[in-house]
Amino acid sequence: MVNSETGIIGLIGHPVAHSKSPQMHNASLRNLGLNDIYLAFDVKPENLKDAIQGMRALYFKGCNVTIPHKVNVIPFLDEISEEAARIGAVNTIVNKDGKLIGYNTDGEGYLRSLKEETGFQLQGKRIMILGAGGASRAISYTLSLQPIEGMVLVNRDLNKANALLNELKQTDYHKAITYHELPNEIELVDLIINTTSIGMYPNIKETLIKKEWIQPHHLVSDIVYNPLETKLLQDAKAQGAKIHSGLGMFIYQGVIAFEKWTGITPDPNIMRRVVLDSIV
Ligand code: ATR
Repeated sequence: MVNSETGIIGLIGHPVAHSKSPQMHNASLRNLGLNDIYLAFDVKPENLKDAIQGMRALYFKGCNVTIPHKVNVIPFLDEISEEAARIGAVNTIVNKDGKLIGYNTDGEGYLRSLKEETGFQLQGKRIMILGAGGASRAISYTLSLQPIEGMVLVNRDLNKANALLNELKQTDYHKAITYHELPNEIELVDLIINTTSIGMYPNIKETLIKKEWIQPHHLVSDIVYNPLETKLLQDAKAQGAKIHSGLGMFIYQGVIAFEKWTGITPDPNIMRRVVLDSIV
């Protein structure tokens, strides 16, 4: 039913000009000899519904969805995956024979990046997650399905953290706390993940955790990738802890989206190189 040989994959967001997704996906498409093209479209919130209808009419293969449309796009789709429904947001749409299906590849992208880049074994581990917003929802939901001992969600707004916690599978170690209680809890965890934007350029000196609280047994992970090594990660390294940088989550959410559109796993190293070349 596609009208031309070239398949179109889009990115819808507002703004989208600075996204690295077009370079990353087009490099993978070219590398694999696929005759598709990935284009970014700046869609204002009031035009979201029309944009989705346009995707149908134009037989797009699919698209990525970014801020501010990840939640509001849901009513315009024909189906959403259980994962996207539980996370409450869609970042990838696949056009399956005219039916638009929404997925969320952020949590799975984070998990694949963590496994591939650190080899961290989640079995029996305690995880501390900083933040209870959209990124935290994706990561905490995905990790809650792993054989972990449990997780502690840390947030300024305790009600929000508790609300998220109550949606996750209950475990022995399952709590929501504020930053006041963090110093008592941090020693007990194995993996610390910052899901907030604290430390992101231009506020590169900011961190939510005091350096001396980090210990060598910790793996410290940050979803911020600009800068590639945030203050949190620099401090963690100086304390002898292992670190995991945020670029991997971005790359692997793209790897999984690409698999859904094309059925082919792209080379994450090519995607990483393209993104790195465009930011340094
Ligand atoms: P995202 O989709 O990127 O996760 P979000 O949904 O707006 O963005 O969530 C931002 C998260 O960062 C929230 O958990 C927020 O904490 P509150 O819920 O308490 O507001 C957290 N956050 C933002 N600024 C913060 C700060 N200065 N200190 C601590 N947490 C902060």
